[in-house]
Formats: sequence, C-alpha cells, structure tokens
Amino acid sequence: MARVKVAVLISGRGSNLKALIDAAAAADYPAEIALVISNRADAGGLDYARDAGIRHVVINHRGFADRDSFDSALEAAIVDAGADLICLAGFMRLLGSAFSLRWQDRILNIHPSLLPAFRGLDTHERVLAAGVRFTGCTVHFVRPEMDDGPIIIQGVVPVLPDEDPERLAARVLAVEHRIFPLALAWAASGRLSVRDGRVIVAGGTAPEEMPINPAA
Ligand code: GAR
Repeated sequence: MARVKVAVLISGRGSNLKALIDAAAAADYPAEIALVISNRADAGGLDYARDAGIRHVVINHRGFADRDSFDSALEAAIVDAGADLICLAGFMRLLGSAFSLRWQDRILNIHPSLLPAFRGLDTHERVLAAGVRFTGCTVHFVRPEMDDGPIIIQGVVPVLPDEDPERLAARVLAVEHRIFPLALAWAASGRLSVRDGRVIVAGGTAPEEMPINPAA
C-alpha cells in the first residue's frame, strides 16, 4: 500500500512530531513523514527528525520580507518532498489565507484546548482563570483564522482541583499524542470529508478512539 506523504511543521520541542514519527513506524500506518520543517533553527524537535532519518529543513520566517514569500518557500519544500498532507505540530506561525485555501482540508493543526474555546496562546492559564471543569485538545483542518476550522477529533481532560498550568499542560499533551496520530491516519486513509463546516469520518469512530475523561 502506498503511504501518503506528510510534511510536519514545527517551531519547538516537537513532542507531537515524535508521536507522529512513532505512529508512522508501524508498517500498517497509512502515512509516511517525508519532511519536517521548522521555522526556528533551535527547535528541539529537529533532533527527532534527525534521529529517525527524516529529511528536515529550517525555513526561518525572519529571512522573508512578508508572509506570502515565507509561505511560498514552505510550499516549495513541501511540494518538492511530494507531500499531500501537512501537519502543524506546534507550528507557531499563522499561514496566509492563500496558502490555507490552496491546501484546504489537507492541513491538520493540533491545539491544546477544546476548540472553539481558548484559541491562541497561554491556553492553560486562561482555562484555569475561566474555572472550566474540563479542557482538552483538538485536531482540526486549518482555515485562515488562527486555531479555526472543522474539527476532526477532540480529547477531553478534567481540570483537577489545585491544578497548575504546567501540570495541566502535561496531562493535555499526553492526550494530544494519542489523538494527532489517529487524526492523521484517518486523513491519510481518505476517511475524512467536510460538509457544512463539519468533518465526517467515513466508517464512523469506535468509542475507544474518542478519549473522554482519560486518566492521563
Ligand atoms: C502543543 O501543546 C500544541 O497543541 C500547541 O503547541 C504545543 C507544541 O508542543 N499548539 C498550539 O498552541 C497551536 N495554537 P510540541 O512541540 O511538544 O508538539
């Protein structure tokens, strides 16, 4: 079976990249990570790509006059690698709307909240300040607005009493590492379609594929 080639874009630690690399190591996983792009040379996640023998490149946004030229450089590298899907795994740059629309329903982003709540940065601090009882993480198809787009999968994490942002972030991250590989597998095996702004998963989803209130 030909595996779908994926480009993973990162900006930092790369633990979600690592989860995708680990998932793609299975012979029956439908996607192959063909390229890792970081916009920062010091991103720790580049080591995961290097260790796994995956092609990786730094494309520093600061070297470009504007968003469109940065996006064009990203796109050239992605097309050159033969990638058909893009995963944003802690990639902290907003893609331009032309790029997002050209790759519509082929870019997956992970965000550490139950979208559409708590878009943007400092998510866990804001979750705690709001006093919500549950939070979680979301993988969605990218639209031009930040952390916006049709939802593929979410994982739910209870907010414990006396929680602090770091502990909460770690518990949410453990769930991120479960849902991102699953969402990518669904996308790569052609099971996802978008109708009226909502994602349909062909064949449905098993209850154990939807992490609700996990002990993580
Ligand atoms: C993850 O928690 C991811 O959900 C978040 O950045 C972190 C990256 O960690 N993404 C966003 O906030 C996007 N708006 P990682 O580099 O270890 O995967």
